[in-house]
Amino acid sequence: MARILITSAIPYINGIKHLGNLIGSQLPADLYARYCRSRGHEVMFICATDEHGTPAELAAAKAGMPVEDYCAEMHAVQSDLAAGFRLSFDHFGRSSSGRNHRLTQHFARVLGENGFVEEVGESQFFSVADNRFLPDRYIEGTCPNCGYERARGDQCENCTKQLDPTDLINPRSAISGSTELELRETRHLYLKQKSLKGEISGWIDSKTDWPLLTTSIARKWLNDGEGLQDRGITRDLSWGVPVQFEAAPWKGMEGKVFYVWFDAPIEYIAATAEWADATGQQDSAWERWWRTDKGAADVRYVQFMGKDNVPFHTLSFPATIMGSREPWKLVDYIKSFNYLNYDGGQFSTSQGRGVFMDQALSILPADYWRWWLLSHAPESSDSEFTWENFQTSVNKDLADVLGNFVSRITKFCRAKYGEEVPPGGQTGDRAAALIEELETRVRAYEGHMEAMEIRKAATELRAIWVAGNEYLQSAAPWTVFKEDPERAAAMVRLGLNLIRLYAILSEPFIPDASAKMLHAMHCTDKTWPGSIAEALGVLQPGHAFTTPEVLFAKIADEEREDWAKRFSGIRT
Ligand code: MF3
Ligand code: ZN
Repeated sequence: MARILITSAIPYINGIKHLGNLIGSQLPADLYARYCRSRGHEVMFICATDEHGTPAELAAAKAGMPVEDYCAEMHAVQSDLAAGFRLSFDHFGRSSSGRNHRLTQHFARVLGENGFVEEVGESQFFSVADNRFLPDRYIEGTCPNCGYERARGDQCENCTKQLDPTDLINPRSAISGSTELELRETRHLYLKQKSLKGEISGWIDSKTDWPLLTTSIARKWLNDGEGLQDRGITRDLSWGVPVQFEAAPWKGMEGKVFYVWFDAPIEYIAATAEWADATGQQDSAWERWWRTDKGAADVRYVQFMGKDNVPFHTLSFPATIMGSREPWKLVDYIKSFNYLNYDGGQFSTSQGRGVFMDQALSILPADYWRWWLLSHAPESSDSEFTWENFQTSVNKDLADVLGNFVSRITKFCRAKYGEEVPPGGQTGDRAAALIEELETRVRAYEGHMEAMEIRKAATELRAIWVAGNEYLQSAAPWTVFKEDPERAAAMVRLGLNLIRLYAILSEPFIPDASAKMLHAMHCTDKTWPGSIAEALGVLQPGHAFTTPEVLFAKIADEEREDWAKRFSGIRT
């Protein structure tokens, strides 16, 4: 048994996330968390909302609400949707929490004491029309790196380059669209990342098992042209973690807050502390996940995120941790994702394009989405959602293969032997071959899940379902029954046990269907299978079951066409 700390990139508070966001971090992190728990490991699975910075302020202004109220409301909305998708967070925190304020100020203070913080006078865009400084996303313009025209002042979402507003070509205010921008003097704190470059680079070099997508992005920003730059970690904004606090080693920073990308990853730690608070535990309860001097040395820490987040997690956050010179846990493995596209274009929050989490749940249950998204996760390249593809996956994999298997075997048993595992008989060579195939496939499935190779795991799981279906098809207990009801009974017994096995194996992908299957089998024993032969003998003759309702309804062509039309436009 191991201890595994899992974090998903924390979603911005600025609205409901689309399916591209979901498969980019939270859903695969949930898959892995569920799998690790099923294998008996002790898991801490953390997520939160990212509530500071310009995305939050801009969205609150658009909604015409005070930013505090907007954040509280949207946190509740996102939390409900996460529950709707069965995301099994141990805690879904808020980066605006007191815990995060204190921890962020703590890190800033020790970084300052260690000489990694520098005060810099610099010029920042001041908008005359808006009568304020406009940091980060308050400025939009053309990316100097790739020419993308809607790049934002913090990062280009097209090429992932981290930017300063003053880097943008043709800058304009995101509030008013005004181009009447003046450069005015202001003072800010900079994190001296450059002096940590050697350490960070050595650390990344040691991560030989990381996915190429992760290390290639990290190396690109580490070694490219200008390389790792010192970075401003404060902003002229009012919403956020105050820079001037009692024990701060600097003066005159009133009215400024820390940059959202400085406090957001610290929220991983803070959210774990929020979890301890919410469950009435001492600090030691969260520290044993995060402090290597307090029990976290044997924790394996895995992070999930989209590719645009990789620079912050491979360079900036490690710089915060390393520069603190305190024994905080550094990440052990970063699983990153490409983008999911929507029907020939990009999913886009700002443009309201695609299917959003609330809309998805309003038309179909979570498992349908989970299965499609996970089995098409954008791992080695970007992938694309189309309604045809979605319909095919649901109808074939879920309804025809898994659903049909469960329905056929339970209904046949009920009709011929009643709702009880039937006694007697011997299965034949076909069953032996099936068990042998499953032994191999289940071990392969475990390997892919451990390696977080999500598509490969889904393919293997589907093959495991198919194997059962093919067995049933060729063993044909309904034909055998006429001559040899005892032998048919043995086949049915195997089939009923397969339902239980499938429920356990499939739980990380489709938790609701899995629970229904176990419930139908009157079974609470979810022990992960060691020997498959043994696992297929758990439900003994005489064990009662209940024939379940249809597990997965097929998507009709008319429904698909209707949805495709309904979600082709722009969300208002
Ligand atoms: N809110 C960011 C995004 O959606 C992710 C923040 S991840 C963290 O892209 F590390 F900063 F927490
Ligand atoms: Zn760009």
